[in-house]
Amino acid sequence: MESGAPVVYVEPRKMNQNKRTVIDILRDNPGFVSGEAISQTLGVSRNAVHKHVNSLRKRGYGIVGVSRRGYRLEDEPCRLSMSTIAARTEQSVFGRAFRYHDEIESTNVEAKRLAGAGAPEGTVVVAESQTAGRGRLGRRWTSPAGKGLLFSALLRPPLGMADAHLLTLVAAVAACDAIESLVPVSVRIKWPNDLFIDDRKVGGILLEAAGEQDAIDWVVVGMGLNVNTEYSELPVALRRTAVSLKVATGHPVDRTDLLARLLLALEEAYLDAARNGFDDALAQFRERDYLLKRCISVQTRRGPVVGEAAGVDEKGALLVQLPHRHIQRFHSGDVTLR
Ligand code: BTN
Repeated sequence: MESGAPVVYVEPRKMNQNKRTVIDILRDNPGFVSGEAISQTLGVSRNAVHKHVNSLRKRGYGIVGVSRRGYRLEDEPCRLSMSTIAARTEQSVFGRAFRYHDEIESTNVEAKRLAGAGAPEGTVVVAESQTAGRGRLGRRWTSPAGKGLLFSALLRPPLGMADAHLLTLVAAVAACDAIESLVPVSVRIKWPNDLFIDDRKVGGILLEAAGEQDAIDWVVVGMGLNVNTEYSELPVALRRTAVSLKVATGHPVDRTDLLARLLLALEEAYLDAARNGFDDALAQFRERDYLLKRCISVQTRRGPVVGEAAGVDEKGALLVQLPHRHIQRFHSGDVTLR
């Protein structure tokens, strides 16, 4: 049980302080270091060194390997400064407990595990990279290490299950505000959980919840944002439909500043919704509705339904205008433009 006590975040460089690793050796030696020298220093096999170097590369380290010369560190991933974020969110619910990971399976999976173990509302799991990032409808979320923002916030809202999905809209609106406060872009929301710049997806939200029908136990709001991802680093299949803030503006974005703003905006919007209901969030969603008045197709179990997007109702359900003035409501579904 973890409730109560604040969890101390761990900056990556402070971990394993007494145990030198491959990266320490490469940092201490600006030129090439042979695999043999590293394996002798660490007392591990050459194969273990090779595997470790490969895993560091996957985590964003630029390590060059040249036969008969060894390895050289050329580039390190830019890390989030969790101490800066903690200082900025100190007075907040979302500043209570950070769990920072260099690499993790999925921040949502970890936040759900912590939720089940009794972690307090406001626990935030942050990662520089994920090995199995999850998207909506069983999709994957991929992001090169240190280039995006990947985090999950644990909430324990005083709501029933039927309102849980409205928190996706709350989080989406808060994310738009936070991004626009730092980056000169206009962000819109593609119902229910996608963040769009022009016609490309820059981020997504995955909300997972557990509890009884009339009382939520926990909600995990997971957010993935493409921040400093280069065009060439976007998955090939998504290069025409995805974008990063850097690609959209031509400038890198300070991820630490952006994460602090996102957490503060998310908290403000969440507390407002928990106290006063969802009217404000719905009104703001309507101003940012990417689908409004467009011809769309909603995938349902019984096949696609085609019509004109007509906004959302007071429960956050998507309204679709069908022929003969008939309006159909969708509480979930995959929406594509026609
Ligand atoms: C979507 O577009 O379908 C939602 C994507 C959500 C991705 C984020 S990344 C951080 C958090 N952890 C996950 O495994 N998923 C969410």
